[in-house]
Amino acid sequence: MAEENSKSTLWGGRFSEGTDAFVQRFTASVTFDQRMAEEDIEGSLAHAAMLRAVGVLSEQELSDIQTGLAQIKNEITEGAFPWSIELEDVHMNIESRLTQLIGMAGKKLHTGRSRNDQVATDIRLHLRKSIDLIATEITRLQRGIIGLAQQHTGTIMPGFTHLQTAQPVSFGHHLLAWNEMLERDYSRLMDCRERMNVCPLGAAALAGTSYPIDRHQTAAALGFRAPTENSLDSVSDRDFAVEFCAFAALTMTHLSRMSEELVLWTSAQFDFVRLPDRFCTGSSIMPQKKNPDVPELVRGKTGRTNGHLISLLTLIKSQPLAYNKDNQEDKEPLFDAIDTVRDSLRAFADMVPNIEPNAESMRQAAMKGFATATDLADYLVRKGLPFRDAHEVVGSAVGLCVKRRIDLSELTLEELQAFHSSIESDVFEALTLEGSLKARDHIGGTAPRQVTAACERALARLETRA
Ligand code: ARG
Repeated sequence: MAEENSKSTLWGGRFSEGTDAFVQRFTASVTFDQRMAEEDIEGSLAHAAMLRAVGVLSEQELSDIQTGLAQIKNEITEGAFPWSIELEDVHMNIESRLTQLIGMAGKKLHTGRSRNDQVATDIRLHLRKSIDLIATEITRLQRGIIGLAQQHTGTIMPGFTHLQTAQPVSFGHHLLAWNEMLERDYSRLMDCRERMNVCPLGAAALAGTSYPIDRHQTAAALGFRAPTENSLDSVSDRDFAVEFCAFAALTMTHLSRMSEELVLWTSAQFDFVRLPDRFCTGSSIMPQKKNPDVPELVRGKTGRTNGHLISLLTLIKSQPLAYNKDNQEDKEPLFDAIDTVRDSLRAFADMVPNIEPNAESMRQAAMKGFATATDLADYLVRKGLPFRDAHEVVGSAVGLCVKRRIDLSELTLEELQAFHSSIESDVFEALTLEGSLKARDHIGGTAPRQVTAACERALARLETRA
């Protein structure tokens, strides 16, 4: 269907007819890339200052550009900026408005640059800011986790393998396992930040520019570590977005594991923890319900980030150098990955310090599944049995307890001695939950004094962060 075509584009010169109205909408990115407006202005200010320093712009022209961009920034924050789909993207919207406001100098801003290096710069600036916010949320969540762990170094819960009761552990120890996942996520995020923090500005369309630009000046003004090395790579590289999405996918995957545990633990069947009402919702039909919505939703949102990672890898696959319009498709996945991981971390950081553990329920559960069977085997080994024989002896004792529906610690000394004569009255110490925890007394183990020390080390690591 014919729609009215537009002629108001910035490349008008070469074209004999305007862009098809549908094509214009189809190819536009302004609806989503206006999110980078602030960074686009920062980049333009640095570029203009550099053009002045190398003599391409006059003092007056620079000052006009600065005044115009300041006004545009205001218009954008106040929601008064006249965004236009006809101007395709954030870059052309701002440049065109600048020319409207200040005339000739506005037309000179684009000297020695292209939207290709401009957009590559804007995304990096935007992502760098987002990374710094996300890093703060990770640290806040880690502080919450470690704080809760410190209060529960001696709170006993069943540790699981295969979701079957395995051995008793400290609840604080379990929480510190979450902290380790996040510690690695943080370090991955910092790796990504370090590698992406270079400035593509000056690569221009793909080959560089014939103006006497100073790329070191713009890189430094924008807080980048250095200018990028190769102009072709500069305008086409989106590895950093893939790296960020890999970080986001893995962090969300970790949050989904924590979520899953919270969902299990808040169920009536486990009853290990309570979440404050403000992180839950009820049911419109079942009056008794209190649903753990926040962890469930975080678990569900993992699909987004994992999908975005694959989208970006596929976007880049087989692209010839240098810039291709395909790259416009990098923004929506990247932005959504940023929002998803940031908001999920925020929800967790708010929620975790307010988790209310039910120590009695955890203890009862730890008593149920023969969590100290390994401790009995270890006891027999201390009395001189080879471990495999001890394993066999304890297996038979557990068999009897299963039949009689009692715990190992409820057998009498005589009954235990029937399984092996080396068992003495000191066995009961080994069979208590406390004794079991206390025995695992080495770095990384669940003994409460080790967990206390691990909390201190974990906090000390947070202190070293910038
Ligand atoms: N909107 C474009 C993007 O997001 C900006 C760069 C366009 N460059 C070009 N030559 N078409 O990638």
